Amino acid sequence: MTVENPNPETGEINLVDREFAAAPQPVYRRVLSRCPIARSSFGAGPVLSRYEDVIWALRHPEIFSSEMEVQMALGTERPMIPQQIDPPAQTRYRKILDPRFSRRRMAELIPQLRSQANALIDRFIDAGECEFDGAFAIPLPCTAFLSLMGLPQKDLDLFLELKNGIIRPQVDPGDVEGATRVRSTSGKRIYAYFEAVIDERAAQPRDDMIGYLLGAEIDGNKLSHTEILDICFLLLLAGLDTVTSTLGCNIAYLAANPEHRRRLVADPTLIPGAVEELLRWETPVTCVPRVIKQDLTLHDVAIKKGEVVTLLLGASNLDESEFVDPERIDFERKRNRHIAFGAGAHRCLGSHLARMELEVALEEWHRRIPEYRIKPGETPRYSPGIREVQYLPLVWNTQR
Ligand code: HEM
Repeated sequence: MTVENPNPETGEINLVDREFAAAPQPVYRRVLSRCPIARSSFGAGPVLSRYEDVIWALRHPEIFSSEMEVQMALGTERPMIPQQIDPPAQTRYRKILDPRFSRRRMAELIPQLRSQANALIDRFIDAGECEFDGAFAIPLPCTAFLSLMGLPQKDLDLFLELKNGIIRPQVDPGDVEGATRVRSTSGKRIYAYFEAVIDERAAQPRDDMIGYLLGAEIDGNKLSHTEILDICFLLLLAGLDTVTSTLGCNIAYLAANPEHRRRLVADPTLIPGAVEELLRWETPVTCVPRVIKQDLTLHDVAIKKGEVVTLLLGASNLDESEFVDPERIDFERKRNRHIAFGAGAHRCLGSHLARMELEVALEEWHRRIPEYRIKPGETPRYSPGIREVQYLPLVWNTQR
């Protein structure tokens, strides 16, 4: 028998459950109405869900710190830059990184990405079916990442292997030691890969991301090779799974909701609005963690210094105090200040890149495959954590 989430007796919310990953919205609804501060069933830390509370926490890094002892858990040997450090040090890194990720720069990648999207579609369109995650949602962001970094496309499989080794190590469920071992080995290989590229660029400068970082300065000092490594490690982890998961969530939604899909096909100018609305509704990065720097009381609940707090972005994105009629999917929503990319100092560095990838992918997919559905008799399978639709079998008619 499945227990209601959050558990009505203990008030604990289970955020690592496949059922939650497949359909988190009913859980968000319950947690928003019943308990502004829930407890996570995993580690028992406080969970903040209301928009106002989560935004406040994200904007106060001096209380809600990103400097956590999580490094080893992700196969890294040092904090990743800038995500695992607090302002003001974090802000100095963002100053040099932000211009490199501007909307204008990301637009330069569009023609190449469009042709890569079409090359992928060419591989399976005539078959009338595909498993979307493996065939499209996984490889496309990786090709975009390689272009962004100025790395060769032939390294695509290697990057996917390394990233999966960290984010989804292939071990038996519950084998924590095995997962740590795989992560640590993959982490070492990621450091070694980027170290070799840094050495190459130092010897023969090039105008790509690593070339740029080698020339960048903070307060008149060049970045060390270690700092560049810690930035590249983060870009690899932050930039691939997030877009893969968002693409999967979007297409799964549109496959199951043909009236919305047909509107996009009939009027592709709705796609940017659809990307924002589906980011709000699906919020693939469901939550972010922070560690508390000082005791505080919120909604009469005492939160102790040192506790790890979960900020439930997905629930905030359905909070009716911020969103008019939050249950309604409206591709033309007038005010959509969703926080699927976070907020405050650590707001997503790659949001322009992500939006560009999502828009190009939805445009090209619907231009080539306007009518599709989930394969009859099959059920999509979502992963807990970042909500990747790991199994998304689609079918369409090949008589065009
Ligand atoms: C739809 C896709 C994406 C989503 C939903 C997403 C979501 C997020 C969220 C929620 C955060 C805030 C983390 C926190 O507050 O602790 C974040 C930070 C970050 N994201 Fe993204 N992201 C996406 C794509 C990307 C891409 C494509 C890149 C780069 C290649 C990227 C790079 C980063 C970096 C570097 C940070 C850390 C920023 C900092 O700490 O200053 N993200 N992202």
